[in-house]
Amino acid sequence: MRLLLLLLLTFPAFAAPIEIPIETNRTALVIRVDNEGHLTIVHHGKRLQQATEYARLPGNARLYEGYSEFYSSAYTPAGSRNLLEPAIQATHADGNPSLDLMYVRHETKPTGPGITRTDILLKDPQYPFEVTLHYKAYQKEDVLEGWSTIRHTEKKAVTLQKFASANLYLSANHYYLTHYHGIHAGEVRPEETQLTGGMKVLDSKLGTRAQMFQAPMFMLSLNQPAQEEQGEVLAGTLAWSGNFQFQFELDPQHNLRLLAGMNPYASAYTLEPGRDFTTPALIYTFSTQGMGGASRSLHRWARNHRIPNGNGDRLTLLNNWEATYFGFDEPKLVELFKDGRKLGVDLFLLDDGWFGNKFPRNNDRAGLGDWQENRAKLPHGLGYLVKEAEGAGIKFGIWIEPEMVNPKSELYTQHPDWVIKLPNRPDAVFRNQQVLDLSNPKVQDFVYGVVDDLFTKNPTLGFIKWDCNAVIYNAYSATNPANHLYVDYGRGLYRVLERLRAKYPTVPMMLCSGGGARVDYGALQYFTEYWPSDNTNPTERTFIQYNYSSFFPAIASCNHVTNSGSAPIKFRTDVAMMGKLGYDIVVSRMPANDLAFSQEALKTYARLKPVIYQGDLFRLQSPHTHDVMSVLYVSDKQDKAVWFSYLISDRFKAGADQPPIRLRGLDPAKRYTVQETNLMPGSKSPIDPTVVYSGDFLMSVGLDPVVGGGRTSVVLEVTAVGQ
Ligand code: GLA
Repeated sequence: MRLLLLLLLTFPAFAAPIEIPIETNRTALVIRVDNEGHLTIVHHGKRLQQATEYARLPGNARLYEGYSEFYSSAYTPAGSRNLLEPAIQATHADGNPSLDLMYVRHETKPTGPGITRTDILLKDPQYPFEVTLHYKAYQKEDVLEGWSTIRHTEKKAVTLQKFASANLYLSANHYYLTHYHGIHAGEVRPEETQLTGGMKVLDSKLGTRAQMFQAPMFMLSLNQPAQEEQGEVLAGTLAWSGNFQFQFELDPQHNLRLLAGMNPYASAYTLEPGRDFTTPALIYTFSTQGMGGASRSLHRWARNHRIPNGNGDRLTLLNNWEATYFGFDEPKLVELFKDGRKLGVDLFLLDDGWFGNKFPRNNDRAGLGDWQENRAKLPHGLGYLVKEAEGAGIKFGIWIEPEMVNPKSELYTQHPDWVIKLPNRPDAVFRNQQVLDLSNPKVQDFVYGVVDDLFTKNPTLGFIKWDCNAVIYNAYSATNPANHLYVDYGRGLYRVLERLRAKYPTVPMMLCSGGGARVDYGALQYFTEYWPSDNTNPTERTFIQYNYSSFFPAIASCNHVTNSGSAPIKFRTDVAMMGKLGYDIVVSRMPANDLAFSQEALKTYARLKPVIYQGDLFRLQSPHTHDVMSVLYVSDKQDKAVWFSYLISDRFKAGADQPPIRLRGLDPAKRYTVQETNLMPGSKSPIDPTVVYSGDFLMSVGLDPVVGGGRTSVVLEVTAVGQ
């Protein structure tokens, strides 16, 4: 009798369905608890003006009797009546492989200015096993973060076979999925496909990082192929730097189920009683203004809530990687500091090759793991370099790759058990290196110590570039169950970064991974910026930067001027200015005119960067479809805009005779001048800076930036007048 009463209290019969709207200023995800206590998604789209009308949402009347709740389930359990792809699959302590999840209670509360968090507790009626679904809603930015916490108090451990972060459900006639795949130096290439019946899976199994082949992000356009500024688009990206999995499953009525989370591949997780298993968040936004609207929402969210110092400034820098590779010594570096100062950048970044003694790091085959200054190259140590740089009027930063080890290193000899490898198979290397087992707390302490030591010895160190060049081969941990390695590696990495950020909250840090293999919002909560690609050819970069801009803001994109390709310095600089400008070039070998231009460009950049960093991005013309790529950054107050256009094609007369490009995001009632900037010394602009246009004219008719063979890139400053 007592037991029955308890069950009734915990799982009341639902007299009427309960609606749980998760709202932002413009969007709503509405979850309904049905009469039996199951959670279904009944709306994901525009916010309704009358919240009372959420009760009228039809739900899944079209679906089969008695089975509807599974199609639209807000967190689909496996093993009972469900026959669809599950969000969660578990084997209970008694060996029972089934789950049912019923509503217990929910709570919505503010967690900061403009942020609410809704937690919905679900419980299995047969087992002390529960899942809390979390939805953090960022009102102004229209962004949701969705994740889950799984826990139980069964007598023994439970095995989790699958553990999605989010389970969404959309209703439309057709779905067009844009996903981003690639390879080293050819990152994030978009490809769009119409979804058909069955399941489309995007995933990765690289271990240390989410991407290389497939990036953890997608755009899903409803009813039509994705458009830049119109149409309904759901943009999503997983905040996790390891294996991920997105599954898109069409139901028989053409509604779409979406499951996103860590990849369950080789990761069945043993969860002890009383412990929480928390999944990483899916970051998503629903836009009614196409991909452009989705990107602007994500950018604002990232600057306001995710990336350290997202609303602050960034340092321009001179990096020595493409300038010297491993071939430098102290005098050469001291020269480079002076060059950096002459150029006018804020910081000098010393890249790979500064460490290792018994196994000197003179190429990528040795030394990784031995984080002591190489005495032959740097006889006076890093402290001396920091001082010399500061004496030359420039800050000093350094490259590290602390998660990795070359077999030819003292570290490998001393701690072979710290290396991820299989006891009975030959070691497998990726870029001649292996991965340290960050699931091991001792390794976490070591990695933390590498960075902490650098700062302890050099407190004025101004910047860290954190690299991660290898994937995990032979996934096996000597100290941890092998199938926990992928999950615990990522958690171990974040634990280290968490500790570092607690002690060094403000130091700028660049996230790099053999180019752009680790660009995700999991890692980006610790890093001020990311390296998009080792491909620094400027035309290639227009594509790469354009594609990343779908999800990540300009302030975080490290774009360096290098000698890659044959484009003139102006083109290279204009491309790099689209985000955080840097250089990776031998300044002393620059022609005088190029140097003079670059010195001036840095001053121009200092004037433009508040708009580039904090403005709204409008992608006016895509390099994928146009000879001329064009993007515009507009300040919040709509009083200033920076407009970049680049000639992408080198075909005969490419760029010529193109219609005017219509601007976006300006105030139609404001009046603006349009002035060309960042010109080569002595060159004249065909754009008349004295003409005053209305915002309406610029957006309805547009203007020709006059890009062509002789003018392969153009930067225009659009300034409101007479305010
Ligand atoms: C990776 C990075 C480069 C550079 C090298 C150094 O490839 O992406 O920028 O730092 O490592 O070895």
